[in-house]
Amino acid sequence: MIIKRAIIIGATSGIGEEVAKLLLQQGWHIGIAGRRAEALTALQASAPNQIEVQRMDITEEDAPAQLHQLIEKLGGMDLFLLSSGIGFQNRHLTPEIELKTARTNVEGFIRMVSCAFNYFKKKKYGHVAVISSIAGTKGLGAAPAYSATKRFQNTYIDALAQLSRMQHLNIYFTDIRPGFVATDLLKNKKYPMLMQANVVAKYIVKALERKKRVVVIDGRYRILVFFWRMVPRWLWERLPIKN
Ligand SMILES: NC(=O)c1ccc[n+]([C@@H]2O[C@H](COP(=O)([O-])OP(=O)(O)OC[C@H]3O[C@@H](n4cnc5c(N)ncnc54)[C@H](OP(=O)(O)O)[C@@H]3O)[C@@H](O)[C@H]2O)c1
Repeated sequence: MIIKRAIIIGATSGIGEEVAKLLLQQGWHIGIAGRRAEALTALQASAPNQIEVQRMDITEEDAPAQLHQLIEKLGGMDLFLLSSGIGFQNRHLTPEIELKTARTNVEGFIRMVSCAFNYFKKKKYGHVAVISSIAGTKGLGAAPAYSATKRFQNTYIDALAQLSRMQHLNIYFTDIRPGFVATDLLKNKKYPMLMQANVVAKYIVKALERKKRVVVIDGRYRILVFFWRMVPRWLWERLPIKN
């Protein structure tokens, strides 16, 4: 039997942790990473034969070296999933919050996704998946850096998908864009159409199996995003979007 191997960065809580649990149930061997070592070892204890762990902060320069170490421990990587991300509402536009968000969602994102791309390029096969957000659809006044960094992620994956074809690489890309999910990322849980992380994880695993290029979760958000895109700029800038 061929063992499938996935690495999930940002598996210490929320959506990444739930996807990790589902992949385990399906028999995958997984390498999990994040900053909270206790959360990594707690998940590892649930299936020690299937899980390798690596403490990792994607804002640090040595994170790619740690990813390579984790790949080695796991014995290879077929699927790379980046779930790490931070987000804040920042109506006062505090620069530290904006910059901190960019360091994780842009700098850390580039660091890890480019490392995975180059690994798969050498292997001539692989699947890069990232959890961005529907927040990248338009600039959100309440969370400027969050929405802008998510748009960056969408565009970056578009670019790598093209680069991969230009270089005749057999790499698949999946850009996962959920709506509101009840995780630690949302500081209060008073959001409309809030989804549970374990339910979102099921959609994600299905999309990964089908190697979907872009997936908006769930159907209600697909409709929302469809209309959202059609709002002209002059009107969008006058809308008081609270969340
Ligand atoms: N919740 C939502 O409504 C929602 C909606 C759309 C998209 N998303 C996206 O989904 C992804 C997962 O978020 P979540 O909702 O599951 O929230 P979460 O529970 O807060 O998970 C965030 C994960 O990112 C990791 N992380 C954060 N900074 C990191 C760093 N510097 N280095 C390594 N790992 C880091 C965290 O691990 P450590 O703290 O252990 O490092 C944690 O595992 C994010 O990219 C988020 O933007 C969330």
